[in-house]
Amino acid sequence: MLLDSSARPTLAAMSQLILGIESSCDETGVALVQMPSDGSVPKLLSHALHSQIDMHRAYGGVVPELASRDHIRRVLPLTQQVMASSGKTLQDIDVVAFTRGPGLAGALLVGAGVACALGAALAKPVLGVHHLEGHLLSPFLSEDPPQFPFIALLVSGGHTQLMRVDGVGRYEILGETIDDAAGEAFDKSAKVMGLPYPGGPVLSKLAEAGDPEAFKLPRPLLHSGDLDFSFAGLKTAVLTQAKKLGDDLEARKADLAASAQAAIVDVLVKKTINALKQTGMKRMVVAGGVGANKKLREQLNHECAKRKIRVHYPELHLCTDNGAMIAMAAAMRIQAGQQNPDTEYAFDVKPRWPLDAIVETSS
Ligand code: KG4
Ligand code: ZN
Repeated sequence: MLLDSSARPTLAAMSQLILGIESSCDETGVALVQMPSDGSVPKLLSHALHSQIDMHRAYGGVVPELASRDHIRRVLPLTQQVMASSGKTLQDIDVVAFTRGPGLAGALLVGAGVACALGAALAKPVLGVHHLEGHLLSPFLSEDPPQFPFIALLVSGGHTQLMRVDGVGRYEILGETIDDAAGEAFDKSAKVMGLPYPGGPVLSKLAEAGDPEAFKLPRPLLHSGDLDFSFAGLKTAVLTQAKKLGDDLEARKADLAASAQAAIVDVLVKKTINALKQTGMKRMVVAGGVGANKKLREQLNHECAKRKIRVHYPELHLCTDNGAMIAMAAAMRIQAGQQNPDTEYAFDVKPRWPLDAIVETSS
């Protein structure tokens, strides 16, 4: 059943309770966010997550077909869980938000399909959200949300970008990786060292016991003067070092992990500080899976404290993929009057979708 567009109230006026569904990769996330009518920051009521890490571990990485099938298995039970724990019913939902992209096509289609089916059944609009905008706005879910404008360091498994953020949909990319993302650098370095998937958190845990100065690894583009990154060479350098160590690798693994982590973090922190200097901005947020990295947080906190810069992070458990950030991004888009309702239920997905494509063009 499609909504009668002539009878359709404006989305900003009608949207109070937003269900968010994330299924772009290896986590199924569902959440409910309440958008207050007074324009204040939306609040997370409840969220539920299923990580597929255990399932993909045997294959050393994400298997797209298995990911899609698991999203199908998980999404409705997670939705029921979220409804039950929030004390709300499906009929209370005003908008169903889902991750439209970027991500794995089959995985995205599961979330989009369920969101559109729910929207059609409830006669409520759906809203396709950009996954990276979800990460970018996830610090607004924390106890101490940031205020616009700020510099954002977006560091996920597929993206590494420095952005100037002036408001919802007002994003200017200041620099980005020209090859691998920071998360990929963690994951690939971990893989060549023989560490299990998911590489990033495993490598960083191991690094806690190692000496970050044990091995000299490259810090590409550190002094390039621009705000771009390059991490592709790091994996090769770690592999070369691992081969050199031969039988000693096992005994020196923590040192190699600590050295690889230090190389990645040094570049991320230096470029972020440069972005803050260049823009004169005194506030920043870190978002995306790599934002959970302890060393990155420590080093960034230290450098920012010296310069009296406030740093905001998402809650640790909301750094990696989740439904809360999707519901939140939808709520903030609606509040900002940035998004038209979709009542056609076309469930289109965009596996490749640059963030620039959703930047507000009217200002
Ligand atoms: O944002 P995310 O969950 O998914 C994408 O949108 O890509 O990010 C996943 C990435 C992976 O590369 C993972 O290894 C990395 O974030 N990651 C970490 C940590 N936790 C997750 N990297 C370093 N240290 C961590 N603690
Ligand atoms: Zn993500």
